[in-house]
Amino acid sequence: MELDLGCEASIRDPAEYFARARAEGGDVQWSERHRAWVVLSHGEVAAGFRDSERLSSDRMGTFERAARGRSAAFHRAVEMLHAWLNFRDPPAHTRLREPLAAAFTPRAVSGLEGRIRAIVSGRLDALAAADGAVDLSAGFARPLPALVIAAVLGVEGEEREQFQGWSDDIASLVFSLQPGAVDEGPVAHAAEEFMGFFARHIERVRREPDDSLLSYVVHSPAGGLEPVELVGLCTLLLFGGHETTTTLLINTLALLLERPGLRAWLRAHPEADETAVEEFMRIGGPARVMPRKARLDHERGGQPVRAGETVFLCIAAANHDPAVFSRPGEVDLLRDPNPQLGFGWGLHYCLGANLARLEARIALRMLLERFPAMRPAGEVPPVRGGVMGFGRRPVPALLR
Ligand code: HEM
Repeated sequence: MELDLGCEASIRDPAEYFARARAEGGDVQWSERHRAWVVLSHGEVAAGFRDSERLSSDRMGTFERAARGRSAAFHRAVEMLHAWLNFRDPPAHTRLREPLAAAFTPRAVSGLEGRIRAIVSGRLDALAAADGAVDLSAGFARPLPALVIAAVLGVEGEEREQFQGWSDDIASLVFSLQPGAVDEGPVAHAAEEFMGFFARHIERVRREPDDSLLSYVVHSPAGGLEPVELVGLCTLLLFGGHETTTTLLINTLALLLERPGLRAWLRAHPEADETAVEEFMRIGGPARVMPRKARLDHERGGQPVRAGETVFLCIAAANHDPAVFSRPGEVDLLRDPNPQLGFGWGLHYCLGANLARLEARIALRMLLERFPAMRPAGEVPPVRGGVMGFGRRPVPALLR
């Protein structure tokens, strides 16, 4: 078979698709279609995440090439990406990560619980006021993470409504496998607005510290971040905390609507919320593939990887590897242990993992309890996606 990480079969039935791919081509295989080594087993994907010595995360060269010949505004969008630590290697990565890691402690994140509950409650009130069918995607899964991240950044009121639009436009650059082909206008415009807004906001926080995580980063004892880097970090948090969590919620809500038994079981078992969210991450986690570049010639899963070649760490395949997960195609809300790799691993392990988990747990629990009669309003559109992640889709539901 010709491996195609964006094909419908790999998205619809990853357990079956990747089992066949591994059986035919092994744990690490060259894909002519993707012009990359594709890593498919849990063991090799986890090893790849840990191997920052030989696999680089640096994508600055690709973005800078994409900016050549483009407008000054597009250049500034790319400049902002220099602070995106997920696209950097040490030592830049270490310098950028330190103040963020100091702010995103488990204690600081659990301190956001009350705020998250209030935000979810507000969204549920809005849904309750609607007559007839609602779209849980547009009315719940999309606004929630943007509102939560606004609270993390200490942005309140009307300004936070703009977050969603900016994030959508910048996503088109960051998530693109070919940044050079991206339509320049919306990206440049969003980046300008974004940067202007955050530059002013950071100045305010610098003068008047508040209790937001951003304020902690701005006044961090680790210190040392340039103003443009702080603005870039804000955009990373907004993007990293928004697109991903929204997709997790959409995939999970769609699954719960399609499976009345699963929905009823979860509603009746709040004690399973933690393991359930891990399982939702395993089967519908937003990140399907993380790209890396080989820094040097080396062997990976018995294959000769050359310096400069692209390596795709396929999270979707790893999370359905029967060597680690029994019956990987089945949903088991009590699966434990569940070493799913949806938040990555190693040096670049997701800094917002605990926040995303908390948000998903609160959102699902409060929704199930508020609307026990929730059911699909017609057919839920099938899951769609591409190599890197999933596409959006409406999730039509009747709540009463
Ligand atoms: C379901 C939601 C989320 C998923 C699936 C997710 C996934 C990931 C993954 C796979 C990585 C590793 C990237 C790599 O190895 O190249 C990562 C890194 C990162 N994530 Fe998340 N993330 C989520 C939510 C969040 C949230 C809510 C935030 C912040 C508010 C966040 C901030 C970050 C940051 C700053 C990094 C970079 C870490 C580094 O490079 O050292 N993420 N995320």
